[in-house]
Amino acid sequence: MNDRFLVLPFPRSAMISPFRYPGGKTWLVPLICRWLQSLEQKPLMYIEPFAGGGSIGLNVASLGLASHVTLVEKDEDVAAVWTAIICANPDDLAERVAAFNLDIESVNKVLSVNPRSTQERAFQTIVRNRVNRSGIMASGAGKLRRGEDDNGIGSRWYPQTLKKRILFIASLRDRLTFIEGDGLDVLEKTKCQPNTAYFVDPPYSVGNKQAGKRLYNHFDIDHENLFTLIGQIQGDFLMTYSNDPEVIELVKKYGFDFITVSMQSSHNGEMTELVIGRDLDWARTTIDDWGVVKTG
Ligand SMILES: C[S@@+](CC[C@H](N)C(=O)[O-])C[C@H]1O[C@@H](n2cnc3c(N)ncnc32)[C@H](O)[C@@H]1O
Repeated sequence: MNDRFLVLPFPRSAMISPFRYPGGKTWLVPLICRWLQSLEQKPLMYIEPFAGGGSIGLNVASLGLASHVTLVEKDEDVAAVWTAIICANPDDLAERVAAFNLDIESVNKVLSVNPRSTQERAFQTIVRNRVNRSGIMASGAGKLRRGEDDNGIGSRWYPQTLKKRILFIASLRDRLTFIEGDGLDVLEKTKCQPNTAYFVDPPYSVGNKQAGKRLYNHFDIDHENLFTLIGQIQGDFLMTYSNDPEVIELVKKYGFDFITVSMQSSHNGEMTELVIGRDLDWARTTIDDWGVVKTG
């Protein structure tokens, strides 16, 4: 049975990631929290094999909804940010961001160099993410021109907020692991681990729209293999995908359950996505405290 849900806007205070990530799922945090709380035991491990901006995993760590959180990302630039914050020198990155005087010249200078260290790559990635249109960092993506309220290239540059977010994530380091690599390999290696929860948000590169091809440098996923691995995990999972007939075919083939979820968006109108799981009966209530409303 396909039920339909609306996720209400999520408080800005819970925005922890330094990224404005294309296809980011901060808006889905209420549903993920509700899912983790529905499990019989608090998960020992929560894994995001396609971490991107990592907003959900960071909220899970911050709220203590799993004992430990592992984020996995293949993109070298995005990975550099997580490595710098979780594994290397977050203070240095936070200070560089806070001290950066952003204008078109300084941006061009930062983005024109070939980074010689992870710290440098991380800083460059944060700048690129903040000055590119919709935060898209895939090759060929363009910079903001008019920006928010006609504030141009600096309209999304909030250095003090970014510094605070970097330092806040660093304060959660003992609950976080970051792996630069292939999410499918991590699924293969961990699939027999009990008491593990996976939130799986791959690039949408199946079916009609294939937005993932425009948004990410890495989008070429073997979706059939992903569904096979997900079918083998011992723990529990939630997976998101574009609302597409080809995806629904895969969901049915693997015997999974799904619901349709939408968010209110002033810019793009109604966006609907599929949330896929083993058994989503926990979600089939009419209304709840986390801001998830059943609409049909
Ligand atoms: C839909 S985005 C994830 C967005 C994330 N849930 C968020 O809220 O920001 C998918 C991510 O998967 C990454 N990716 C693509 N192929 C991958 C792979 N094989 N292993 C790990 N990450 C991969 C992309 O670089 C992109 O960052």
